[in-house]
Amino acid sequence: MRSLQISPLEFSDRPAVEALLDLVFGPDRRGKSSYRLRAGSPPCPALSFAARMDGRLVGSVQQTPVAVGEEGARALLLGPLAVEPELRGRGVGRALMRRTLDAARAAGWPHVFLIGERDYYAPLGFGPAEAVGVSVAGEPAARVHHMTLAPDSPAPRGELRPRQPDPARQR
Ligand SMILES: CC(C)(COP(=O)(O)OP(=O)(O)OC[C@H]1O[C@@H](n2cnc3c(N)ncnc32)[C@H](O)[C@@H]1OP(=O)(O)O)[C@@H](O)C(=O)NCCC(=O)NCCS
Repeated sequence: MRSLQISPLEFSDRPAVEALLDLVFGPDRRGKSSYRLRAGSPPCPALSFAARMDGRLVGSVQQTPVAVGEEGARALLLGPLAVEPELRGRGVGRALMRRTLDAARAAGWPHVFLIGERDYYAPLGFGPAEAVGVSVAGEPAARVHHMTLAPDSPAPRGELRPRQPDPARQR
């Protein structure tokens, strides 16, 4: 395999990321519930990574702060995660996941949620969000997953919602 590098997503990567997301999720991707949840806050730059091969962007991952339940407890929503179709099945997605989750743990985020296919995320350590009492309006419970990054921090309960913008609290 050509050499794979995982590095921080740069502002100049934006057009390549948008093109990859259009390719992978389709041009109507902004109608998804994950986009609605991400609308309240920009993605965390420190948790955004690109996968590059020979300097070319072939994958990306981002995480965005969201609110949980009535109290609006802080948590992350992981995504979008995308890998160029012809380079799938070579560990690029897992490498991106490891890097962004390590960064979130190091930054002190206690909980990560995501919407996606259980078969991909369960082997990476995600469990059903339903088991900790968290749901996403319009999404079947089977597609909503959770990971605790800080074992001593009980998961907040309730519905995931867009976070009110508060740049001072974002990392
Ligand atoms: C999901 C995705 C990011 C995985 O990237 P990748 O680089 O192919 O993943 P990896 O090579 O790290 O892992 C491959 C493993 O995951 C499995 N896998 C990949 N996509 C899967 C899916 N949608 N459901 C279940 N398993 C999946 C493969 O079968 C393979 O398993 P194996 O190692 O036991 O053979 C990529 O397929 C993609 O961009 N998909 C479309 C967008 C998407 O669904 N993103 C996630 C939702 S936000």
